[in-house]
Amino acid sequence: MNKLFVANWKMNGNTDKVIVDLKAYIANAYTNCANVIFALPYVYLPIANYIIRESDAKLRLATQDISKFSGSGAYTGEISNKMLGDLQINYVIIGHSERRMYFNEDDSVLFAKLNNAIAEGIRPIYCMGEALEVRKSGEYLNHFTTQLQLLQKVEALPNELIIAYEPIWSIGTGLIPKVEEIKEAMDLIHTFVQNNLPHVKITALYGGSVSSANIAEILQIQGVNGVLVGGASLKVNDFTTICGGG
Ligand code: PGA
Repeated sequence: MNKLFVANWKMNGNTDKVIVDLKAYIANAYTNCANVIFALPYVYLPIANYIIRESDAKLRLATQDISKFSGSGAYTGEISNKMLGDLQINYVIIGHSERRMYFNEDDSVLFAKLNNAIAEGIRPIYCMGEALEVRKSGEYLNHFTTQLQLLQKVEALPNELIIAYEPIWSIGTGLIPKVEEIKEAMDLIHTFVQNNLPHVKITALYGGSVSSANIAEILQIQGVNGVLVGGASLKVNDFTTICGGG
């Protein structure tokens, strides 16, 4: 199975950077391919779409969020599933710890977002992972299961799903879990999906301080089908190395 590489630019970038970086990725064999997804800020999606289509490139686009409201309506500032569908966006990150933390996104919000994305044919990249206190308490496996159980409630879950394991204590910190810790999380995700969502083909990603220096080791861990990359995806050379497998 080809590994999947997702770049999460978060609240970074500008028009020039989007143009320059995407053109560099498109010129590169590793990064101009269908297993690379760029999650860009909303405002840069039209220009990114234009660059990709103009060059007939294969890389794909995601958003970092979607409204909990569907369609259209009086929801100042919101971007709906229909609008993303209109732009032909294929993927959306849902449940990232920064959204859970800074925007108080709880299960009811995530549930609405998952349903809205799926209704429009936009594939969720569902993020889960534990805070350091949860890891230290030894309760982290239960925590993972609870986060995954939300998926069981979603109607019409698509046949293919991307789930990213992102320990909160690893995001942006340079701290990487031990190989056994990542494997344990991957095993739990794969087993949970096999047992509870048997129709779903799962792509399990690891995310948190992925870099050009640690990518080779991470991709070798059994059950890791790809990576979700934040900081290192903002540097063309680093992300190109990452997509090449290190
Ligand atoms: P990081 O972020 O690679 O900068 O740690 C990962 C993420 O939040 O998706």
